Amino acid sequence: MPDYQIAPSILSADFARLGEEVDNVLAAGADIVHFDVMDNHYVPNLTIGPLVCEALRKHGVEAPIDVHLMVKPVDRIIPDFASAGASYITFHPEASEHIDRSLSLIRDSGCRSGLVFNPATPLSYLEHVLDKVDMVLLMSVNPGFGGQSFIPATLDKLRAARRIIDESGFDIRLEIDGGVKVDNIAEIAAAGADTFVSGSGIFGCAGDDDPHRYDSILRQMRVELERAASI
Ligand code: DX5
Ligand code: ZN
Repeated sequence: MPDYQIAPSILSADFARLGEEVDNVLAAGADIVHFDVMDNHYVPNLTIGPLVCEALRKHGVEAPIDVHLMVKPVDRIIPDFASAGASYITFHPEASEHIDRSLSLIRDSGCRSGLVFNPATPLSYLEHVLDKVDMVLLMSVNPGFGGQSFIPATLDKLRAARRIIDESGFDIRLEIDGGVKVDNIAEIAAAGADTFVSGSGIFGCAGDDDPHRYDSILRQMRVELERAASI
């Protein structure tokens, strides 16, 4: 079975209790914290920056933090997130004037690098930079908001990305982001994803004070991922 990793998107968490939310979802078995950075310019929404990333580290979060930049320009903010404790920093190629430079800047800052593909962005952006990429992130919704529906055409794109990664021989994770839930995660894994962002699919069951409220949803996702191996 591939090394499947589940990355809850804190965009759908209760921001008034963010540290506790992250603790609870990690205790429930999540692997990575997905951290959505929106600038009200590249995408029509505004979220969180390096201060919040640093606050999570100071709170004691040791899991990898996967910073998904939906900002333009890209380069100015990369060192800030590296200092704030980011593990991965991914960005949208359309938002960078110099993709190769941005990727190098991320690795030179001590983080793992990644490119993010909107539903209509071609995978050809990978062609000359595969050796500089640690993560390929396919958006299965248009970026900007949680709670949207998974775009089914992403499954074919996942299969294509999986082929490109396998043929390259590089150690690159294939992440999917948008509309991932218990009922479609197996199909998404079977199409080639190994890293699964889910926001509303995990935090959507928030609302009560039970610290174990995420256990059941994470457990169901793991069961579905085991099933994917047999699809
Ligand atoms: C959307 C963000 C996602 C979002 C996913 O632009 O990149 O990470 O939080 O949310 P769900 O899982 O609710 O689609
Ligand atoms: Zn995201």
